[in-house]
Amino acid sequence: MYDKRMILRMGFDINVWKDIFKIHKYFRKDKSYNIFRGIKTALFILKNERIVRHDGTYIISTFMPAFGTEAFITNLKAVKNVDEPFKSQILSKRSAPISMYLEITKACNLKCEHCSSHYKCDKVEMTIEDWKKVVKEIQDMGVSDIGITGGEPLLKKGYIDLVKSISNKSRIILFTNGYYLTEEIAKQLKEAGLYAIGISLDSHIESVHNERRKDNFAYQKAIEAIEYANKAGLYTMIQTVILKDELNEDNIFDFFRKCAELNVDEVKILEPIRSGRYMVSDEGKKIFYDKASRSKLIGYQHKANKSRKYPKITTFAYTESQEKYGCGAGNQHSYINAYGDLMPCDFVPMKFGNVRENNVKKLWTEMNQALDGPKIGCFANRVNMKISKLGLSEYPLNKKDSCIICENHPKNGITEFEKLVG
Ligand SMILES: C[S@@+](CC[C@H](N)C(=O)[O-])C[C@H]1O[C@@H](n2cnc3c(N)ncnc32)[C@H](O)[C@@H]1O
Ligand code: SF4
Repeated sequence: MYDKRMILRMGFDINVWKDIFKIHKYFRKDKSYNIFRGIKTALFILKNERIVRHDGTYIISTFMPAFGTEAFITNLKAVKNVDEPFKSQILSKRSAPISMYLEITKACNLKCEHCSSHYKCDKVEMTIEDWKKVVKEIQDMGVSDIGITGGEPLLKKGYIDLVKSISNKSRIILFTNGYYLTEEIAKQLKEAGLYAIGISLDSHIESVHNERRKDNFAYQKAIEAIEYANKAGLYTMIQTVILKDELNEDNIFDFFRKCAELNVDEVKILEPIRSGRYMVSDEGKKIFYDKASRSKLIGYQHKANKSRKYPKITTFAYTESQEKYGCGAGNQHSYINAYGDLMPCDFVPMKFGNVRENNVKKLWTEMNQALDGPKIGCFANRVNMKISKLGLSEYPLNKKDSCIICENHPKNGITEFEKLVG
């Protein structure tokens, strides 16, 4: 499936052509690149994606910055070998991840049953000034997507200042449960340079969302936040965690219809991961996906994306599959927790050094080496059960043991994306 209507529209946009020429010129020095490979790669990226136009830019996949932004170019330049930028991009030989998410606080007003951020720890959190320094370092490295997350990031004093401190070399996304978003705050965030907001909504059924989030007003607050974000002109995403038991067509499409009514730009579906409060859940069969659940979900995604009745639908299940890019933990994506520990991903409780003590680039390069390229399927799903059995009193797992786990779980296949230069 190709979004022919939007591809045609892009074809009539002079700025799109300017960017295409810029990219072509940049890749031309690479022996692995030629115009046919370039077209093949573009078609691969566009395949099965609904394209959304926002503020004159085009969101193809939320896992990369929008086409037409400076951040898109930042991403292309973040390669290990500057003489082979095309090959390096395809094989994920990177000098920085595409996205780095910053857990600016662990504090939260909710106690969601699945919360990945919930780990026992009594260290001191980084301050907004610490985060500003980190932002400078990761922008210098060439991180193109900066995510502000938590805990509940709107509980951290100074978060708007932090957003303001990020230059447009990177795209900024904020993840929130929506509780504290007001019309005024949404406006201020937009003015500060925020591009996108991901608001959690785990079901179109109020009682289900509230029960999952253990709060009677969580649903109402999320709905209001979506309205404010839309009004402020932010790229508005609903982030949702759908349990295995809930994966039936009627339920999923009722949810998509509600999201369409709310006029959001995108719905991003996360699969439940054994992390945080779910690390030792004994309801495995009802909650966690198997291969069949993932294919079912990907089928719904593709079906919905063919119709313009629904917002753009994105799933980790598809993006991380062999058919697309694989799991980006520690490669295309990385995470820094509230205490400054560098981690491969929000959901993998392993640490590779602390950014208060060491340069981010140095730590990231070491972590990237240990992770050994994109994997097929979610890395957290492969390793977290093993980590949970270690019976740690505190998370994340230390660097030495994290490296051993990585060594024992190397790359498990080649993605279709990687085959583009094969
Ligand atoms: C950790 S939260 C932080 C932002 C904010 N507090 C919220 O809930 O939206 C970021 C996202 O991760 C999701 N999430 C948390 N724990 C998860 C888990 N174990 N598996 C999958 N997604 C999870 C949340 O539902 C939310 O969409
Ligand atoms: S998922 Fe988000 S809202 Fe829920 S407890 Fe965790 S940090 Fe808070």
